[in-house]
Amino acid sequence: MSGDLTPPAGDFAGARDADARRGGRSGGREFEVDVLLTGIGQLVTPEGPGPHRGPAQGRLRRVDDAALAIVRGDVAWLGRAADWRGRAVRTVDLGGRAVVPGLVDPHTHLVWAGDRYDDLEARLAGESYEAILARGGGIRHTMRATAGADRATLVRLAGARLGALVASGATTVEVKSGYGGGVAAEIASLGAIAELAAGARVRVVPTLLIHVPDPDDRDGHLRDVVERLLPEVAARALAWRVDVFVEASAFTVAEAERVLRAALELGLDVTLHADQFHRVGGVELAARMGARSVDHLEASGPAQIAALAATGGKTVATLLPGASFELGTPHAPGRALIDAGVPVAVGSDLNPGSSPVYATSLALALALRLNGLRPAEALTAGTANAAAALGLRDAGWLGPGARADLVVVPDRDARALVAGLGGPRPLEVWAAGRRVFPAATAYDGWRA
Ligand code: NIG
Ligand code: FE
Repeated sequence: MSGDLTPPAGDFAGARDADARRGGRSGGREFEVDVLLTGIGQLVTPEGPGPHRGPAQGRLRRVDDAALAIVRGDVAWLGRAADWRGRAVRTVDLGGRAVVPGLVDPHTHLVWAGDRYDDLEARLAGESYEAILARGGGIRHTMRATAGADRATLVRLAGARLGALVASGATTVEVKSGYGGGVAAEIASLGAIAELAAGARVRVVPTLLIHVPDPDDRDGHLRDVVERLLPEVAARALAWRVDVFVEASAFTVAEAERVLRAALELGLDVTLHADQFHRVGGVELAARMGARSVDHLEASGPAQIAALAATGGKTVATLLPGASFELGTPHAPGRALIDAGVPVAVGSDLNPGSSPVYATSLALALALRLNGLRPAEALTAGTANAAAALGLRDAGWLGPGARADLVVVPDRDARALVAGLGGPRPLEVWAAGRRVFPAATAYDGWRA
């Protein structure tokens, strides 16, 4: 992978002093860690927490013939194996494979019931996604099916989908509600996400998505969102972030602004679905409101890129190439965004309609072909920049201070993870210092 080479860090973070632990000399120089991964042919990682923008998005740290030490689920040390001086309770030899940080999927819709096979047939026959939505299909069809499912079913279905993303390398996954609609149904969706998170062996980041307006009572719906739903979500800490779908067929800029203001006042982070089909001002609103990310951007042009660039990296542009691939819309201007200095992240957008992409790594591979990213930029997009889009500093990179979330790539070259389409699959995925794939299941609460 191209990029600058930085000398390996030689410092320990949290490693136990084995001599002191045995009641021996103080100031002992022998350290003991829980796990030592050795035989890493090539370790490739962003240099630290994101966002990384402009040329820095493509600059990765690379350590050949590396080892990585884990203490209490965090990275305690990484460097050249020859420089390792400590002891480990357990040593795992990775046989010369490449290692990269666990992927961060910053945009998914895992909680749904039913299917969209009839919509797919209609689209294949020429009907547009927006026309299907306008006649009550699409998202509205999935909302009806989701309303008919109980919580156990929703958690089981979401767990299976989460397992697929983990098998592709994801160790942090954002999950949105949004197929509920009313206050009670959105709370129920967020409850399912909380149960999913509690049973998962990877980190789940919950987001409240205000997806489409109630066609019979637009104002009443928004009033309910602002006066009842948001306060309850904040009080019960059911979501970290609030998202609104700003689109000709969904919410206006003014409506979204009302929701985002209320969310910010309650201390929640904000993000938007914007410019998926039409430039209606969603990207500019995200920039103006200091959103952590703005997602989609298929219809964005120079003015939107300039608005994001003017935030100085505060707002991450999250691209969802699965959606433009699936729907045949223009692809988001990833190359132009990076060249303008906007930090770019990439997500799967896994959902039943616009992006049935069950692999975070496939979204990165598509970003190379559809959005003009280079492999090193895509790796940053799927790790440190995706973590930044979620407000996380301890994920998306490897080094002392980060969680021991990592992917063992079945190749000596880390680019294998983003070069293939749907494979090769990771050999192993580790989250917080534990191997979560392969495993009986990546989701403890799910039994097939
Ligand atoms: O990100 N565009 C809005 N929301 C989702 C699609 C949801 C669906 O089609 O069910 C998206 O593409
Ligand atoms: Fe989405």
